[in-house]
Amino acid sequence: MKIQGQIYLPGDKSISHRALMIASLSKKTSIIRNLASGKDVESTGDCLKKCNISISGKTNIEKIITGYTFQNPKNELDCGNSGTTIRLLSGLLASRKIKATLIGDESLSKRPMGRIIRPLLKMNLSINAKNNKTPISIEKSEIKSIDYQSEISSAQVKSAVLFAGLGATNKTTYQEPFLSRNHTEIMLKSVGADIDIYDNKTSIRGMSKPLSPLNMRIPADPSTAAFFAGAVALLPQSELIIKNLLTNPTRFEFFNAIKSMGVGVDILSENFEGGECVSDIFIKNKRLRSISIEKSKVPSLIDEIPILSVIATQADGKTIIRGAEELRVKESDRIESILFNLRNMGAIVEEFNDGFSIEGPSKLNGTTIRTFGDHRIAMAFTIAGLVANGKTKLDNYECIDISFPEFFNTLRNIIK
Ligand code: S3P
Repeated sequence: MKIQGQIYLPGDKSISHRALMIASLSKKTSIIRNLASGKDVESTGDCLKKCNISISGKTNIEKIITGYTFQNPKNELDCGNSGTTIRLLSGLLASRKIKATLIGDESLSKRPMGRIIRPLLKMNLSINAKNNKTPISIEKSEIKSIDYQSEISSAQVKSAVLFAGLGATNKTTYQEPFLSRNHTEIMLKSVGADIDIYDNKTSIRGMSKPLSPLNMRIPADPSTAAFFAGAVALLPQSELIIKNLLTNPTRFEFFNAIKSMGVGVDILSENFEGGECVSDIFIKNKRLRSISIEKSKVPSLIDEIPILSVIATQADGKTIIRGAEELRVKESDRIESILFNLRNMGAIVEEFNDGFSIEGPSKLNGTTIRTFGDHRIAMAFTIAGLVANGKTKLDNYECIDISFPEFFNTLRNIIK
């Protein structure tokens, strides 16, 4: 078995959420092509519609959005499984003086919301959440600007504060330890927001008028592409071209990491779309060696750590990932869910509070994967199954629909 071919993937999930939200701040019509197809982005669209934003058109063709028509929703806003939806929308709706209650599924209800509540309270938002967890209720408030230094590198917190800052009159400044994904800043700048970006520090002033509309084709999601690149890394003689991939450096660290592990990663072209870098890339199987990932690199590959861990089981030597304690508060505790499944498949691992090590290469045995309802665990361990002895099954296939319903079809098309 090997991987061969060329793939076009749905648009990046992080950019898709932001595209819908930022388009809602324009009175003119925005057109967004290649929006991410999973349930998470659907949740964002549904919540915005409940706030009287007009969204029509097909996800995989083009979405047409006309905004600046916010009204209080009649019912609760259901953010489903999506941390990006609940955290970013809290800031966005605060800036529009909307009164709303945001709810989510069982996994989202366990995740920490204090990280957005603390800065939003400082911005004078009236916000309530029992034990800093979902549901979150916000009231119409006069938003004030802040100068905020975050202790964590989180694009969701950063975006919540920048969005809320659009509702203040003065300048809001946000600084983080290491630069997290910067799509909010790039997109806001592209539609005329008053924003200054200096590496890991960003300042924004309130919106005095509606933003310009967006017209964008969203580049392919590198977090989704990582699973197929992972299959290439694991299966000898594999080669794959990934078309129109988002290659923003705040998202590209997984590809740099597998390149350091020996995998062939070549950038075939370079373009820009809405201020974001987009490339066709060529991935080629080569012998794998281990790698160490340190804290400063973690924000730029955080969502790819499940598949990176699977790749590490087949690399010569000990792979060490540290400074990744944020994995504990993702859709599942990903340190636990990765190690639980790797151990079950026969890999040699050691757990730390902030990461783990994996001793490779080791033979993997097929088993039933416990997904913990986490889409990235489900996809990473499906790829592990390609190199395992015997059958690998998932305890939950549905959770893949959160980010990438076309996962199995895409995989089937490139397995030769
Ligand atoms: C995201 C930011 C990251 C990432 C998540 C999506 C975003 O989370 O893990 O999947 O779209 O802003 P944090 O901002 O909490 O690190």
